[in-house]
Amino acid sequence: MKRDDRHSQLLVSPGGKLLGSTTIPGDKSLSHRAAMLGAIAAGSSHIRNWLAAGDTEATLGAMRDLGAKIERHDAHTLTIHGGELREADQPLDLKNAGTGIRLLAGIMAGQPFPSVLDGSEQLRRRPMKRITRPLQALGAEIESTDGCCPLRIQRSNLQGATYEMPVASAQVKSAVLLAALFADGPTTVIQPGPTRDHTERMLRSMGVRIDFDEENPDKMTLHPPEKLEPLDLTIPGDFSSAAFLLVAGLLTPDSDLTVTGVNLNPTRTGLLDVLEAMDADIRTTYRSIQAGEAIGDIQVRTSRLKGVEIGGETVVRMIDEFPILMVAALRAEGETIVRDARELRVKETDRIAVMAGELRKMGAEIEEREDGFRILGVQQLSGADVDGHDDHRIAMSMTIAGTVASGETLVTDAACVADSFPGFAKTLIDCGAHIEPA
Ligand code: S3P
Repeated sequence: MKRDDRHSQLLVSPGGKLLGSTTIPGDKSLSHRAAMLGAIAAGSSHIRNWLAAGDTEATLGAMRDLGAKIERHDAHTLTIHGGELREADQPLDLKNAGTGIRLLAGIMAGQPFPSVLDGSEQLRRRPMKRITRPLQALGAEIESTDGCCPLRIQRSNLQGATYEMPVASAQVKSAVLLAALFADGPTTVIQPGPTRDHTERMLRSMGVRIDFDEENPDKMTLHPPEKLEPLDLTIPGDFSSAAFLLVAGLLTPDSDLTVTGVNLNPTRTGLLDVLEAMDADIRTTYRSIQAGEAIGDIQVRTSRLKGVEIGGETVVRMIDEFPILMVAALRAEGETIVRDARELRVKETDRIAVMAGELRKMGAEIEEREDGFRILGVQQLSGADVDGHDDHRIAMSMTIAGTVASGETLVTDAACVADSFPGFAKTLIDCGAHIEPA
């Protein structure tokens, strides 16, 4: 997907109430995993509602470069003919996709040929030692460039190992589990607390044995399989994309909005618990199980929110939702305090500093803390020219801030919304928001 195909600016005006019912694109975390695991499965995987977005297309392109045959029935429906991968002719380009590069590094560490994994300037600033260290513990020959990408991986023979993760990161856990598929014995991973468990669920659905410790559910042992059964799955909607619509519906006067077909995996829905604690009028209806994940609808109605304190395990369960939570906190009565969220500083951008900086342009007062922030609401935002910083979640959060500000807001560098939520502006416009793509 070329950047020029996408709107690089969004002009936002307040006043559009959000009504009705809408869907959101497929889950990004699941789409990355389906592309990678489909490519190494023994047979043809059928994947529906795949997320055709900047980050996931980068992963799919890398799998193609590694020899996977991918039939595209339409943008969201794929058949991946899996099997042995082959050496790529050029460095694999994961663009802005942190999940793409970190998970793929795990798979590449187990291949009998060398590879180079690289990405955009933005990706080149993100920490990679968190995955090179555990992969080296399994015997991988992997080198970073001053702790970042490009990553150079040599042919290696992996041994099963035990790895205790210092940070609660699903990407690190997944890199180790994916490398462990190719090891000569079982590998045990111990995470410091629960992180999203899509990799475990998908691998188990493909016939891989993963045992969870009876006393410690955060300790799991993967037994390398003979082969991976192919996938046949419909990817549910991405909760992290729904989050923008939910907060917009709660903050915009006279709104009543339902987002349908959302992945309600509890390792992802920390924001629901937090919004409930903020007195949000929010209703969740569980509908079905797809690909081992709970799916349902979420209805929100305009609410007077109150401040909340967030820390500990909840932070990991909503790690991608803090930029939009900042907007909700500004419109909530009283004090919101976020702790234990240091990881926000190493996402696509430093999401604490960047969100605080952009919201200040709209008149917000935010106290930045090393591991979070403090906001005292209710604060009235004023329309301003703000920047998306090539970070999809920043650009979308600033757009929602614009819908509840007084006056017009121009969000520049907004093409990045298509890294995870193509059609973001159109979805909001269809629900009633006043947004003009420029
Ligand atoms: C992801 C894990 C999280 C999250 C990212 C997607 C995944 O990153 O922020 O957007 O799909 O595993 P960390 O593992 O760094 O917390």
